[in-house]
Amino acid sequence: MKINFILNDNIVNIDIRPDKPLLRMLREDLGIKSVKEGCGRGECGSCTVLVDNKPVASCMVPAGQVHTRKVTTLEGLESSGEIKQIQDAFVKSGAVQCGFCTPGFMISAYSLLTGNPNPEREEIRAAVSGNVCRCTGYTKIIDAIELAAEYIRRFK
Ligand code: FES
Ligand code: FES
Repeated sequence: MKINFILNDNIVNIDIRPDKPLLRMLREDLGIKSVKEGCGRGECGSCTVLVDNKPVASCMVPAGQVHTRKVTTLEGLESSGEIKQIQDAFVKSGAVQCGFCTPGFMISAYSLLTGNPNPEREEIRAAVSGNVCRCTGYTKIIDAIELAAEYIRRFK
């Protein structure tokens, strides 16, 4: 099936099996390596991307479903500079260890902070409740997102 969609502000036309997971299409066919395959069944959040600005587990989305839609990954947010405050806050808070889960957490954090730059800790926890980290114990990640919110408010 031929599909076209916007990936990180670029138009993509690709011939693909429509049931191929979006995660696999991004990694194998389009060279997007920030999107990680953890569980492959919608439980760990390491494959989180934005589809039409909403966070989704890309392992659970058939590629055919993004036809005519907009997909954003960490690569796109990095090149536009939109994720810098979140990245700085993760580094400053020591919220990155092995890093496998980090892109997924950053996408979830970005989505939260875009709509709500002054979240309560509970709101942060809820926003990343679909993301699993085996290394950090979560506290530093929540701290990092709180700090990122502060950076974003300061620069607004
Ligand atoms: S790889 Fe998609 S949720 Fe785990
Ligand atoms: S930093 Fe290793 S899984 Fe989260």
